[in-house]
Amino acid sequence: MTESTAPVPGLDAAEVPEPGAVTIVVPTFNESANIRQLLRRITESVPARLPCEVLFVDDSTDDTPEVIRAAAQDCPFPVAVVHREEPVGGLGGAVVEGLKAATSQWIVVMDGDCQHPPSLVPELVATGERAKADLVVASRYIEGGSRAGLAGGYRVAVSRGATWLTKALFPRRLHGISDPMSGFFALRRSAVTADALKPLGYKILLELAVRGRPRRVAEVPFVFQERFAGESKSTAQEGFRFLRHLAGLRTASPVARMVGFGLIGASGFVPNLVGLWALTALGVDYLPAEILANQLGVAWNFLLIEQLLFRDRRAHRRWWDRLGRFALLANADLVLRLPLMALLVGRFGMGALPATALALVMTFVLRFVGTEALIYLP
Ligand code: GDD
Ligand code: MN
Repeated sequence: MTESTAPVPGLDAAEVPEPGAVTIVVPTFNESANIRQLLRRITESVPARLPCEVLFVDDSTDDTPEVIRAAAQDCPFPVAVVHREEPVGGLGGAVVEGLKAATSQWIVVMDGDCQHPPSLVPELVATGERAKADLVVASRYIEGGSRAGLAGGYRVAVSRGATWLTKALFPRRLHGISDPMSGFFALRRSAVTADALKPLGYKILLELAVRGRPRRVAEVPFVFQERFAGESKSTAQEGFRFLRHLAGLRTASPVARMVGFGLIGASGFVPNLVGLWALTALGVDYLPAEILANQLGVAWNFLLIEQLLFRDRRAHRRWWDRLGRFALLANADLVLRLPLMALLVGRFGMGALPATALALVMTFVLRFVGTEALIYLP
């Protein structure tokens, strides 16, 4: 290691943290062609301004770890690599692994493909110190930033749509973060509660900003560059993972989960009606057709709640056990509603319409509570 601790230009010495100040965490998946270039760029622009170390968290199936170890020999700062045999959580899981292992006061997370300029690392940390922030986001969407390296109109559109949707879902938690999809950011280590995180795929900053609840955030503009070598490791599957991640974050509280349950339930009318239409068109009588079509709605609801609401709570029952219980609850709901309505009208003198509405709400809440208690609790 070198002991060059010249302060960041334009800053008071007091604003620069202690030596060993930053751990740069780099998640890697088959990036052997980018490692040397990345370490070279870090060497050129970081250690003279801010003492650093680099920690790769690697899930590669190629020789990336060996390339890292060889390249580390030429680096004037410590370089470590953690190779995960069981890569849980994908990119986000790897980053959290790095957060847990890092010991510096600041952690900067950046990609291994040179799309994030290392020259910004000291500035991210200095901004955090100056603004007393826990999280400093390198943003493509504030003045001075751009997404030049986001290849293709399709990716730009997807990125924009995802950013908009995410900001709409978490207006408060993402206040002051223009680029919640960024993979380049600095974190104050004392503000990180890694055990509270449930990373799932690419959007680890989103996870940190929403579940991590940093007290103060700041942003620095940056230009998202072209990849140095190779191609993005993102897939269509990663897109679905992102939607699941969003759903998990949005339904972390019981009330939000109940709202999600209700929305999924309402969406079940679509397959129900389509099924009804198809069956009657095939000549099936209206009543048996509705009973069958209703099961289609039940199956649809089951798939969605399993994927979006209870994904991490499925392990203690087999799928057919869960489906059976869910179908039972759904049909009990239908059967229960009529006598309940009769009771409300007959005994309590309610009008038919409010009685129907109240019965709907009551059986809905019962079904939600029953689903949690009888299917997804251990
Ligand atoms: N350890 C590990 N495990 N690393 C991974 C994994 C994984 O499963 N998947 C990808 N990585 C690493 C890649 O090797 C790379 O260093 C970094 O994570 C980013 O992956 P890319 O595949 O290059 O991502 P991208 O360029 O499509 O997306 C980047 O920019 C987006 C903004 O447009 C990422 O930073 C995204 O998080 C960001 O939203
Ligand atoms: Mn990339």
